[in-house]
Amino acid sequence: MSHVVLFDNGTHKNVLLEELSNGSFAVQSNQHVIIDGASGMILDPGGHKVYAKALSATMALLGRSKLETIFLSHQDPDIVAAVNGWLMTTDANAYVSGLWTRFVAHFGLDAMVEKRLHAIPDEGMRLPLGAQWVDVVPAHFLHSPGNFQVYDPIAKVLYTGDLGASIGTEAREVADFDAHVDYMIGFHRRYMASNRAMRAWAKRARKMDIDIIAPQHGAVFRGKPMVERFIAWCEGLACGVDLLFDMEPEQP
Ligand SMILES: [Fe+2]
Ligand SMILES: [Fe+2]
Repeated sequence: MSHVVLFDNGTHKNVLLEELSNGSFAVQSNQHVIIDGASGMILDPGGHKVYAKALSATMALLGRSKLETIFLSHQDPDIVAAVNGWLMTTDANAYVSGLWTRFVAHFGLDAMVEKRLHAIPDEGMRLPLGAQWVDVVPAHFLHSPGNFQVYDPIAKVLYTGDLGASIGTEAREVADFDAHVDYMIGFHRRYMASNRAMRAWAKRARKMDIDIIAPQHGAVFRGKPMVERFIAWCEGLACGVDLLFDMEPEQP
């Protein structure tokens, strides 16, 4: 399988890297790269299982463009475990929620590079990318308490991290939403914090002009009708603490 190009207008390109974790016990994870002119960024580069392959694929894709930014949606190992390697081999700056900077350091951040791991404030921020920028938007509790997504206004892609993740399907794009729910529902019911957090996100997402929703696991949602179906599904989903008593039926 080769890379999936989500968007390309000649100067701005959004690419989902070729599947790198196939056949592994480790959960499948997507690595997304955005290039604008001479500048590039990688989103949720992943752990040690995919590090060498993800790094070489990213560098090949960048060509003469430079990796400037590493975005970390939250603190999980499938996102950040190899960040020290990325910082040691490039001059890029990495960004993660301020709730997590000092925890990420426990993955073995070298003193030489720790100043290039930056805290994202709770309200999010704008990150320059070449002649353009991307917006880092809050999606707290979906699923991590300090959790961000990236909106690219040129490609109209919302990178949702674990929100929208599908597990157990090899599809890279959702064809039939109803059939796809089977691959999402278990993960979302348990990992997403609550329907209240989902509704807050749905309200925010509907204010954005989104053509593609690109999660960190599994298939992407392409086209406005599919995007709206996903938003509406999230909005109506009971999850996390909503289901606490179903998980612990012995409790009074
Ligand atoms: Fe996660
Ligand atoms: Fe994840």
